[in-house]
Amino acid sequence: MTVAIERSPTLVVRSGDLFDGLPDGEARRLERAHGNRDLINLIDVLGLAGPMRTVTPWELEDADGHHLIHAGGYAAVPFGENYPPLRDAMIRHLNGGRDTGFPQQSISAWRGAVAANLVALLAAVAPSHADSRVFFSSSGAEAVEAAIKFAKAHRPKASSFITFERAYHGKTAWALALTPNEEYQAPFRPLPGPVHTLPYGDLDAFEHALRKLGPDTVAAVIVEPIQGEGGVIRPPAGFLSGLGARCREHGILVIADEIQTGLGRAGHWFASVADGLDPDIVTLAKPLGGGILPVGATIARAPIYQSMLPGTASKRHSNTFGGGTLAMVVAQRSLELLVDEDLVAKARRDGEIGLERLRASAERYPEFFEEVRGAGMLFAIKVRPVAPEKRLPIDPELVPLLGAILALRALHLHGIHGCFSLTAQRVVRLTPALNLPEALRDQLFDRVDAMAAHHKQAWRMLGSMSPGRWLRLAKLAL
Ligand SMILES: Cc1ncc(COP(=O)(O)O)c(C=O)c1O
Repeated sequence: MTVAIERSPTLVVRSGDLFDGLPDGEARRLERAHGNRDLINLIDVLGLAGPMRTVTPWELEDADGHHLIHAGGYAAVPFGENYPPLRDAMIRHLNGGRDTGFPQQSISAWRGAVAANLVALLAAVAPSHADSRVFFSSSGAEAVEAAIKFAKAHRPKASSFITFERAYHGKTAWALALTPNEEYQAPFRPLPGPVHTLPYGDLDAFEHALRKLGPDTVAAVIVEPIQGEGGVIRPPAGFLSGLGARCREHGILVIADEIQTGLGRAGHWFASVADGLDPDIVTLAKPLGGGILPVGATIARAPIYQSMLPGTASKRHSNTFGGGTLAMVVAQRSLELLVDEDLVAKARRDGEIGLERLRASAERYPEFFEEVRGAGMLFAIKVRPVAPEKRLPIDPELVPLLGAILALRALHLHGIHGCFSLTAQRVVRLTPALNLPEALRDQLFDRVDAMAAHHKQAWRMLGSMSPGRWLRLAKLAL
């Protein structure tokens, strides 16, 4: 028998090199060789790969020194990058804190404080939540998984869930099952279920489905108060409150997925409550991590919480990292900054100004913009089709994708770092920091206007790519 002798391993990259700044070419090589190569290739072909470096919390520059206003980060960057008041709290904790990092088996003042503050914030607008409880995790999808398990445990005889067309709830198993998108779901079926997908915003369709399914079979409905990845779509007035009333009548639980909209992004602490819903379970994530750390939270009414985690079964659902101290320091400080800097009201005011600016641009350039939408500091730009679907020598389903990625590139070339939209077509989004200084806010919308003025018609964005880039893109698409 031969015994392999273990040699001390060597690391191929040391953190010292990274702090000093790895050459961009080397970072690209590492990502391509050992990461999501095709995604890196795609953003590289579009000229978006960076790496991005921060100039101020709200401004970035790419590898060519190109100045960008930061409207990316998928709504998870509420204060800009590395915002000093948030960074200082982390450093103070790391330098002097005596709390253990992962207090799974002990009391944590930080975890308790964040839970109490989240419940207080929710109960301030939805008083029925005064004694609700919080389960922490490390991502949005995990917060959704917990919500589904809470609902299932609370309504054990009801097995199905209702979601809505264009919804986005994440990509882990249950979250994906609730995200009715063929591209994301197809390879992974069978997914957990049963899940019924209904048209968003249509109460009649909801009532009809309930009659057909039998309300006792439905454990919960999960709803985004405004569909974020779907392209910033608001439901018609009365939909959320009506949905809540119908569900209450039958004992069906309502999960408000506020991962993208909550904690100020859409101009309210909780967009669902602002629109008349009193949800039983609320999921939160993105802004809770202050743009620095991943933090997820699921708030549930006390009896629902108790159904899943009673007595000695209180470890029935758990994770290693949720409620970790550093994450809670960041979450606590993030909530404080939202309150102390009055950022929710600021997001609402700036959101109105921003949407007005976008609407003015859309009026000036109707052949570039199909529609613009906004809710607080969450903005969507839908561009006109860049080509008739049958005219380009590519899969017709890729044409709308092309519209979105060319619009992302156009934003970048005009100095804006924006976001893709995962369940929308021809839509790019802007999710700037809630504390974006006024001068940069105005510049952001000047730049959007300049981008539209440059192209005038959406199809002209096709001309922004050199033949070499088209060739590389075609190779990726084949
Ligand atoms: C409404 C909503 N739910 C869930 C998620 C999933 O969050 P994560 O990407 O952190 O898993 C997202 C992410 O965009 C979201 O917008």
